[in-house]
Amino acid sequence: MTDLLVPSLDHLRQAYAVTSQATQVTPLLESAALARETGAARVFIKPESLQWAGSFKVRGAYWRLKRLSPDEAKKGVVAYSSGNFAQGLAAAGQALGIPVTIVMPIDAPAAKRDATAGYGARVVLTDHGDRAREEIAAAKAREIAETEGLALLHPFDDPEIVAGQAGAGLEALDQLSAKDASADLLFCSVGGGGLIGGVRSPSTICRRSPRSSASSPKGSTAWARHWRVAASRPCRSARSRSATG
Ligand SMILES: Cc1ncc(COP(=O)(O)O)c(C=O)c1O
Repeated sequence: MTDLLVPSLDHLRQAYAVTSQATQVTPLLESAALARETGAARVFIKPESLQWAGSFKVRGAYWRLKRLSPDEAKKGVVAYSSGNFAQGLAAAGQALGIPVTIVMPIDAPAAKRDATAGYGARVVLTDHGDRAREEIAAAKAREIAETEGLALLHPFDDPEIVAGQAGAGLEALDQLSAKDASADLLFCSVGGGGLIGGVRSPSTICRRSPRSSASSPKGSTAWARHWRVAASRPCRSARSRSATG
């Protein structure tokens, strides 16, 4: 027996029904220019940058906070993030009246620090010097969780966070069928994998599973991690180089 957690469609729908009391339905925009450019029949974009608190992160954060026990909700939560999860969690905490502490690296963008504090979160800054900024911020968050008895939330490695992000996928499936379309290729930005895991879940469960491709900006942490892993597997990268010519 494995302990693998596969959410049911009912669970994802329940998460969506609850989070959508607070989140916005982001549009599904069709781009004729991108279809021409790529040769695809139709191309749709779901701009989650229009979501409340600036990204999809608020979907998972809101649902995760709703799953806290009454005692956990009373004490509050702590998390580490350099940006979008910080804002999403802070906004969700403010809406639900749950105290939120966010540990951010000292070099996190000032606009994101200010927005997080603006949603009422306590912001604790860590100075990582020449050490890895995520490790230092994570260690500080663990320390605060222990000393203050707060629930420590992870930005993506948490089944309820992933279930909350699935709302973007459920929404997109409905919007696609309203436009008499279906997807056979999905591009999704990826960092730790919470978004792509969530967005793929409803279509996988409904057996309408498109091929998917994870994308991240060139030079980002996720991009660098991918190429470090690829470089440590010379046979595989040699094969993929020759496969792409
Ligand atoms: C705008 C945006 N897209 C995608 C991601 C990646 O999300 P995940 O870590 O769930 O893969 C992030 C993570 O911070 C993000 O802020």
